[in-house]
Amino acid sequence: MKKNLLLFIAIPVFIALLAFRISERSVTPSDQKLVIPENVQSILDNSCTHCHGEQASWWTHFRPKSKFNLGDLPKLTTADQVNKLLKIADVVKDGKMPKHRYVKRKPKAALSEENKAILVNWAEKQADELVTD
Ligand code: HEC
Repeated sequence: MKKNLLLFIAIPVFIALLAFRISERSVTPSDQKLVIPENVQSILDNSCTHCHGEQASWWTHFRPKSKFNLGDLPKLTTADQVNKLLKIADVVKDGKMPKHRYVKRKPKAALSEENKAILVNWAEKQADELVTD
């Protein structure tokens, strides 16, 4: 009886461990080349995706949004990803994005110096890693 009980517990635990290992493996950088960490994603969501995403807002209702959709990044070819990442780093470094008129109306979308650095570092490092892969 005790043995059965042990198996009863051990089997689901084993299956759970296996599932965990598989899901862990599926998110390693070698499988999914472009990595967008949560902190970077939340900066993008806050400052960029209103114009570079599917998400509609009062602003984009009467402003043409850019054809460049950040959500498409993972679907691009590696070469295009590198290209876009370097552009992101450039426009953020130069303070061209998010657009000034937008930030004036929506001050919360402004990038702090810290978030700017996080974005630029991420974009440049990702571009670098994609090139050397
Ligand atoms: C108010 C809307 C708006 C916001 C917010 C905004 N962008 Fe843009 N962005 C545009 C538009 C429109 C273009 C198209 C070209 C232009 O007008 O300069 C563009 C162009 C770009 C380009 C060049 C794309 C290409 O393929 O040449 C990049 C890169 C970019 N934006 C990145 C960003 C990033 C990163 C953020 C957030 C930090 C951001 N943008 C926030 C509207 C916006």
